[in-house]
Formats: sequence, C-alpha cells, structure tokens
Amino acid sequence: MLEVSDLAVEIQSSEILRGVSFNVGAGELVCLVGRNGAGKTTTLRTIMGYVAPRAGAIRLTGTDLRGKSTLDRARLGIGYSPEDSEVLGELTVAENIELPTWTRRTEKSAHERIELAFQVFPNLRRYATRPGTHLSGGERKMLSIARTLALDAKLLLLDEPFEGLSPAIIPGIRHSVHEIVRLGRTVLIAESELQHVPDYADRIYVMERGEIVFGGSLEQAHCDPTVRRIIGTTV
Ligand SMILES: Nc1ncnc2c1ncn2[C@@H]1O[C@H](COP(=O)(O)OP(=O)(O)OP(=O)(O)O)[C@@H](O)[C@H]1O
Ligand SMILES: [Mg+2]
Repeated sequence: MLEVSDLAVEIQSSEILRGVSFNVGAGELVCLVGRNGAGKTTTLRTIMGYVAPRAGAIRLTGTDLRGKSTLDRARLGIGYSPEDSEVLGELTVAENIELPTWTRRTEKSAHERIELAFQVFPNLRRYATRPGTHLSGGERKMLSIARTLALDAKLLLLDEPFEGLSPAIIPGIRHSVHEIVRLGRTVLIAESELQHVPDYADRIYVMERGEIVFGGSLEQAHCDPTVRRIIGTTV
C-alpha cells in the first residue's frame, strides 16, 4: 500500500531524514516509534506532501507521489491526523466531520461516511453541535481521526494519537483505532513511547536522528538491545 524508499529531507540545510525506507501493507497497522526530534512528524508530513524530499520515493499502491500536492494526496485517499489535531475551532464538530466529504468523492455517500465517523467515535455525536474550540485535547484527537474516516481514507497517518491524553481516555481511542483496522483501513502511527504502541500493531519501525534503526514485531522490539537503548523500554 505505502512504500517509502530512501527518503532524504533537508530543512534549513540540516539533514532531518537520512535514507528512510519502510513499507506498510494493505490493512496493516504499523508504528513509527522514536524519541522527540527523531523525525517521525517530518516523515508523515513528507508523505502528506507538506515537505518536499531532497531524494527518495513515496509510492501509494504503486503510484509515485512525486509532484503531487497535499490536496492530490488527500484525494488519492491519504488521511492525516496531525500532532496538534488541527480542528477548525470556528466550525462545529459535525461541520468539521463534513468538510472532508467535499475534498474527496468516493463510491460511498457523504452520509455513509459521516455516519461511520460517528459510529467509530460515538462520543462525538453528543458534541455534534459544539464548536471545535470547546473540546478537550482527547476530543480533538478523536475528531481529527474521525475526519479521516469522513474522507474515506484508505491510508491513515496518525501523529501521536495517544500522546498527552489522560489514562482514562487512551483505551477508548485505542479501541476506535482497532475498529478502523478491522474495517480494512491501513494505518501508520507515529508515537514517541513504545508503551503507546497498540498490541495489535503488525510491525514497528524505530527511528533515531532521521534514520530507521529497527524494523520488526513489537515482541522483537521489546527484546532488541538497540531499541532498549534508544527508547529505554521498561517492559
Ligand atoms: N520546520 C522546521 N525547521 C527547522 N527544523 C525542523 C523543522 N521541522 C522539524 N525540524 C527538526 O527536525 C527534527 C525532527 O523533527 P520531527 O518533528 O520530525 O520529530 P518527531 O520525531 O516528530 O519529534 P516529537 O516526538 O517531538 O514530535 C527535529 O530536530 C526538529 O527540530
Ligand atoms: Mg512529532
């Protein structure tokens, strides 16, 4: 589904990504894990087309994304939930969810896609008429992921969906993400802590200083000395 090969990114003449390569198969949930500043967000932003790579290629089901705008990529079915959620505060929850149905037309009706978003995040239904500014951090995260369902995204890029949330909220979001995977969507998550990686992840890649230094299962990651050194796993 997603093939990232030898991606190199420079920002203000410093090398941020250095030869990043990884794959996400159709229907898989893959996590990029790394400490603060490792390059996770830059990787997701490059896939989404906000950052132009100096070298390397990104392919979505075989289509080279080079030269495609962020809007083109959204229309091809890549949904992005950024680190800070980017909910539109002046719009209501329902309006925030409706917007992506205008961006990308698919064989599913707008109504069907909006319903699915509310079904996966039932709490949002209670806040449907509330403006985006009146939501907690956790509710904004939910809304941000819900919008990717309204886009009918086939590949979801979720930047730190479990970070900075109260422990009471995390299991609900984790359950919703699992449901999204069960719907057959492909998911790439960026997280800074191994403990946030859902146990249903198919594979994880560990990043350090702009490079992928490990690829394997969560179980292998917990036993790997490099991973333990980098992320200091406590498990
Ligand atoms: N626009 C920018 N200008 C300058 N440096 C940048 C810019 N964006 C990212 N960087 C640098 O690139 C490196 C990688 O940043 P990135 O945001 O990708 O890390 P991250 O792994 O997502 O970290 P975090 O866990 O804190 O979100 C950092 O050293 C950061 O300072
Ligand atoms: Mg980040």
